[in-house]
Amino acid sequence: MTSSDIEAVQKIDGIVNKAPWSLESYTFEITQNPVARYFVAEFNNDLIGFCGMQVIIDEGHITNIAVLEEHRGKGIGSSLFYNMLSYASNLGAVYMTLEVRKSNAPAIALYKKFGFFTVSTRKNYYPDTGEDAYIMVLYKLPEASPDFTEPETLFED
Ligand code: COA
Repeated sequence: MTSSDIEAVQKIDGIVNKAPWSLESYTFEITQNPVARYFVAEFNNDLIGFCGMQVIIDEGHITNIAVLEEHRGKGIGSSLFYNMLSYASNLGAVYMTLEVRKSNAPAIALYKKFGFFTVSTRKNYYPDTGEDAYIMVLYKLPEASPDFTEPETLFED
């Protein structure tokens, strides 16, 4: 994901999530936050999904993943997620964490498919509905690639 994707990503977030992030939040993640990495899925030049994380030393924290409803169930979420886990591993993450609404069966199934398991519950975590969150953790990431490199400057001037 680059700066040019911010509006499209925020639009998807607004369609898919009950409490979407603001344009300002995505702008901060993409242009200023040195620990944030975001990825997009495109179909016919249209953005149809995205996911993001923050990696601090050895911990990767998933911030979001979403695929537009009409494109779900075709492996796009899995593909985005696997690529992000691989990228986290390349950056040095050895474990990943995330929060998910207790009622979000499709997302929980996706996370379990990649080896995440529930370690705790955060009561009343989501301010919009008061729903509890599961805290899930993954300890087995994909192998890091020995030839992985990132541009020295991720942010545009
Ligand atoms: N019910 C239960 N599990 C489901 C499901 C459904 N309706 N749809 C997908 N899954 C699970 C399955 O385990 C599936 O793996 P499988 O096909 O090998 O069995 C796995 O999710 C991945 O399916 P995939 O097609 O790769 O994912 P997707 O493109 O449909 O995207 C989400 C999955 C979670 C990203 C998508 O449902 C979404 O955008 N949801 C709304 C946003 C959201 O809740 N994000 C999570 C915030 S914490």
